[in-house]
Amino acid sequence: MARNEATVHSTTTQDRIDRIRELLPEIAQIGDDNLRTIVESIWEQVWRESDWQELGDIPKNPSAPAAPQRVENAWTLITHTRAVAQLSATSAETIKTLHGIDYDRDSLVALALLHDVSKVVEYVGTKDSIAKGHLGKLIQHGVYSAFLMWQHGLSTEMVHGVIAHTPSSRILPQTHEALIVRYTDFLDTDSMLMDAGEELYLS
Ligand SMILES: [Fe+2]
Repeated sequence: MARNEATVHSTTTQDRIDRIRELLPEIAQIGDDNLRTIVESIWEQVWRESDWQELGDIPKNPSAPAAPQRVENAWTLITHTRAVAQLSATSAETIKTLHGIDYDRDSLVALALLHDVSKVVEYVGTKDSIAKGHLGKLIQHGVYSAFLMWQHGLSTEMVHGVIAHTPSSRILPQTHEALIVRYTDFLDTDSMLMDAGEELYLS
């Protein structure tokens, strides 16, 4: 990205990685060392390339700040990411136990943790007000995540999962992991939208 150098934060890469691990403890559930490192690296890169000083401040979407805040950090991008990771893991385990449909737990958790990572550079603003920035206006949601995932050598199936998680895409999920992330993303998002009295994704 052209503005990398101009927006580099004063903190070090390791500081950012430490903060990412703190904010997203679900990363530790990824057993494969290489995959876990890639997830951390992608989060670190988008954060470095963004103007956000604190990752935990980024709202989940532009309507999020107006939503009820009964729980600390509700409606943030980080909390939504954690919710999708946890919901994905438990949903896949239930389906495996009751229907015998197997899944790759590391891929599923990594996919859930990365599905919205490009929002860090797609949105600009403050904790109380965000809007799509230049990249968010010009590039479809998730495409930059896919680009970074490919750069880090992740599989086409993993990239597919990110591309297929959003209704912005014409591609529907074609792997079990992608399907679960799409539904749990909708579940968490629509739970928040219903709570706020807003129109559901489902509609
Ligand atoms: Fe999401």
